[in-house]
This record gives sequence, C-alpha cells and structure tokens, in this order.
Amino acid sequence: MAHRAGDPVLNEDALLGVYKPAAPLFEGGEGSWLIDEDGRRFLDFTSGIAVTSLGHGAPEIREAALAALETGLLHTSNLYRTRPPRELAMALTAKTGLDRVFFCNSGGEAVEAALKFSRRWAGTEEGARGRGFVALRGSFHGRLFGSLALTDRPAYREPFEPLMPGAHFVDPDDLEAMDRALDPEAVCALILEPIQGEGGVRPLPAAFLRQVREWTRERGILLIFDEIQCGLGRTGYFTAHEQAGVRPDLLTLAKPLAGGLPMGAVVMTEAVAGAMQPGDHGTTFGGGPFVASVALAVVRRLGDPDFLVDVRAKGARLRQGLETLRARHPRRIREIRGEGLILGVEVSGEAAPVVEAALDRELLLVGAGPKTVRLLPPLTVNDEEIDLGLERFAGALLDTEDSHG
Ligand SMILES: Cc1ncc(COP(=O)(O)O)c(C=O)c1O
Repeated sequence: MAHRAGDPVLNEDALLGVYKPAAPLFEGGEGSWLIDEDGRRFLDFTSGIAVTSLGHGAPEIREAALAALETGLLHTSNLYRTRPPRELAMALTAKTGLDRVFFCNSGGEAVEAALKFSRRWAGTEEGARGRGFVALRGSFHGRLFGSLALTDRPAYREPFEPLMPGAHFVDPDDLEAMDRALDPEAVCALILEPIQGEGGVRPLPAAFLRQVREWTRERGILLIFDEIQCGLGRTGYFTAHEQAGVRPDLLTLAKPLAGGLPMGAVVMTEAVAGAMQPGDHGTTFGGGPFVASVALAVVRRLGDPDFLVDVRAKGARLRQGLETLRARHPRRIREIRGEGLILGVEVSGEAAPVVEAALDRELLLVGAGPKTVRLLPPLTVNDEEIDLGLERFAGALLDTEDSHG
C-alpha cells in the first residue's frame, strides 16, 4: 500500500484481526463510487453490505446531518425527549402498518431486543408459554449471544458456546418439521429473513411466509421478520415481505436505516409493545436526535413510491443482464436469485476468486456463502453504472473460468 510523506503511519497490527480487508485504502466516495488513496475509482456493488442505499455523499444525508449539527443536539440520552426519533417512529409505523418502535445501534442489537420482547410477551394471556425460538437453516441474525444462537453458522457459534439456550433450527423446505417445531409449550417466536442474505441470497416463497404466519397466529407464537439486510427499499418495496401479503409481529431493521450511520430498530405491534414496561430494556445511544434526523431523511427517500418504482426497474435491468450472461456461460453461472437490487449469482467453484478478480477490475462485490457472489449496488445506481458493473462482472467470471469453467 502506498505511503505518502507526511501521512501518519498506518499500523494494521493495532486493529483486532477479525477482518481481512481488501487492499485499497478508501479516502472518498461519490454516488456509486469509492475512491482510493491513489485516486482509483471503484464501482461499489456492495453498498457497505446493503447499507449506503442512497450512495456515497448523498445530498439529502449531508443536508440532514448539517442541519442536525446546527441544533447542537447530538445526544441527550433517553432520559429526555427530542423530536427526531418521534418523527422517525411515526414514519416507520406509517410505512409498515405496525404500531411501536424501539431504536438501537446495530442489526445484532435489534435482533437481541426482538428476542427480549418476545420472551416478555411469552406467558401473557395471548402468548405462547414456551421461551425458546425457531430459526431457519441458512439464517444469519448477528453475532451477539442471542442472535448468534439463532444463526446457522456452526463455525461462528461453536467457539463461543454456551450461547442463549432454546434455539431450534428448521429447514425451510421441511414444512412438517416446521409444524412440529412451532410448539407453543416450547417456543415463543419464529425468526426469519424473508430473503436470506448471508446464507446465499435465498428468497423464501410467499406461500411459506403465509403458512408460518397462519400457524404462528393460531398458536400464540410471535413472528419476527429480520429485514436488516433485505428491507427498506432494497427489493423495490419498502419492506421485503409486503408483496406476500403477510405482516409480522416484530420487524427488525438496521443497515440502510441511517444511510451509513449506525442505527437499528424493532418495529412491532401494539400487542407486543404492551408486554414491555418502563425499565424492561434500554440503550444509552439508541434513537439519538442526530442519527434519527439523518434516518428520517433516508426513510423519506427510501419510502417514496416513485423511488421504489425506479429501484424495481434498475433491479430488472441488472437481473436481465445477469440472465444474458448466464445464457452465454451456463456452466459458469449456476443460478441467479434475489429481488430488486439484492441479487445473488451462484457460480461453479468458489465465489471468493470472482470477488477478487472483480476487485482487480475495480468492481466491488461481496460473497454470500461459499458459492454465491452478492450484488448490492446503491439503490441510486444509474443504467450506465449497471451496464459497466455487468461488463466488469463478466470479465471477472472469465478471468477465473480456467479453474472452474
Ligand atoms: C439479516 C441480518 N440480521 C442481522 C445482522 C446483524 O447486523 P449487524 O452486523 O449490524 O449487527 C445482519 C448483518 O449482516 C443481517 O444480514
């Protein structure tokens, strides 16, 4: 990595070695592009793993942040009332049809909160008596002790056991097993991603969502939709589940919520909210006025129906381009999955070399499981950038074809 005179020395060893970052050192961003220290421009089809949905340097985020800074109100704690989180909660409930919102600082925290709310609700008059949870094979819900317990990645879980007890995993293709697992004496909630992200970009069929909604409702078990990755406009709809015509009891949101600032949220029904009392849960930073002001600007844009129509059109263009590539290279591309601008391309062989070859071509991609390359461009990506991304992706596939074609 180039080191320029006068720069402070970059000591990688001072960071905990839990990541293996790629070589470029980014110093700026502009729309769909990240710019490194040498001025190289990389087309960003990761959006920081589904976070920067409005692109880098979005004017509405800049304006909202500057206006919020002008108030001098960065943080008050939840001991006091401020306006932005209240307005943001109203915007989220209006868009989702749910009733109450709890704000926190990350996806993992949102899942953790949803689990605690479910436990509190268990044993109420309408609630199941069980205190366990059902999750799906292929799931990813986070790295905290509760969310990790419900994440189907043994390698992430085993070094940290014992985790939260009471986790049951069910294969989404096995409806009989699901029927058995949804036992109100044993569990209080089912958690699932309407489109599994880390698990390989796997949308769950609408019929499956409707069936589990019916069973959970009948049995007093809560249904949690984790839309931390697939929600907030990424599918071309405000929520990923709304097309299926079902509504969860709790909805977890995070990644794109505040445009790149850390924020998570749990949106829930009045019935669930009613089980929580003052003091039952809390956070120092969650829903602070600065981050909530930025999120309000983001949610207004992501929830704009014309914006969402445009996301669907862009998703269709990207998908069509991938289908054309697949028709040309049917052995190299095994399957294309996803919706809107969350797309997964399952390749022959490993995904990692394709991601690396794309980086050499100045296209940023991210894997989703061992064989799937994930495409998550900003929702503001334009047609020329989609076409250029497709061209670079095709190049990366061919660069790596020898070993896997
Ligand atoms: C569906 C889903 N849930 C939860 C999380 C955890 O979010 P965070 O990394 O902000 O804790 C992620 C992160 O990738 C996710 O994709």
